[in-house]
Amino acid sequence: MLISIFSPKGGVGKTTVTLALAESLSKNHRVLALELDFSPGDFISLLPSLDPKKNILTYKHDILSAVQRPQGKNFDVVVGGYPGEDRYIKREDITRCVEILKFKYEYVIVDIQPGIVELVVDVLQQSDKVLVVAEENFITPVARINALLDWVQVNNLSDLRNFVFIRNKVTNKELVYIDKVKHSLKLVHDVPFYKKLKGYDDKRLQKNIRKLAGVLQNGTFRENKKSFFRRIFNI
Ligand SMILES: Nc1ncnc2c1ncn2[C@@H]1O[C@H](COP(=O)(O)OP(=O)(O)OP(=O)(O)O)[C@@H](O)[C@H]1O
Ligand SMILES: [Mg+2]
Repeated sequence: MLISIFSPKGGVGKTTVTLALAESLSKNHRVLALELDFSPGDFISLLPSLDPKKNILTYKHDILSAVQRPQGKNFDVVVGGYPGEDRYIKREDITRCVEILKFKYEYVIVDIQPGIVELVVDVLQQSDKVLVVAEENFITPVARINALLDWVQVNNLSDLRNFVFIRNKVTNKELVYIDKVKHSLKLVHDVPFYKKLKGYDDKRLQKNIRKLAGVLQNGTFRENKKSFFRRIFNI
């Protein structure tokens, strides 16, 4: 299963969710987390004992040689490159690498950097699920997601039926903005805002992400919950 973690907005928790999900699913599945982030990404600093030179760029023609196992972990990773290096990799290289990894692992989870959308449109297309990470504290991040999904749809780049929302850093259970925008994707999961989060393997986050892992394994997605007030007035 190929799962892309995606958002046009930085800092919303894509890497945290990617690694938390990899940690959770790796308890009983073969899992690889692929970093498609050249900004640079955070895998190298968040995971122990990785070699930054062994990355998707240097091994784009032999991707299995870029696979590394972080010390003490039960999942594998392929790390991304440095800023500007994405110009040395083509859309078809990424597509081929993902195809190979998909063949070898039960779950490939892709952490996608906001600015490289054109490079990864095939990956979005190939994905069984695209988890669009949304923070609802302001309208701008949600509006930007909406505009990006519009671009995807207008250019016929991917099937939006596979795109779902997960809300991160949730402080208010009620939906604030995401059910108001045009592309109101199905909301499949909420991750609360955790004070002093220790990282992707924080026990509170792991407990929460186990539910998301379960949903992905069973394919059971719940409908968007609208408040009583909004249902009555249809807003
Ligand atoms: N549910 C949460 N509760 C509290 N803090 C969180 C939560 N999720 C993520 N964070 C924190 O938010 C910050 C940004 O998270 P993260 O690096 O995963 O975002 P990102 O979307 O990958 O960012 P970038 O676009 O820079 O790659 C980190 O400090 C992380 O610990
Ligand atoms: Mg990140």
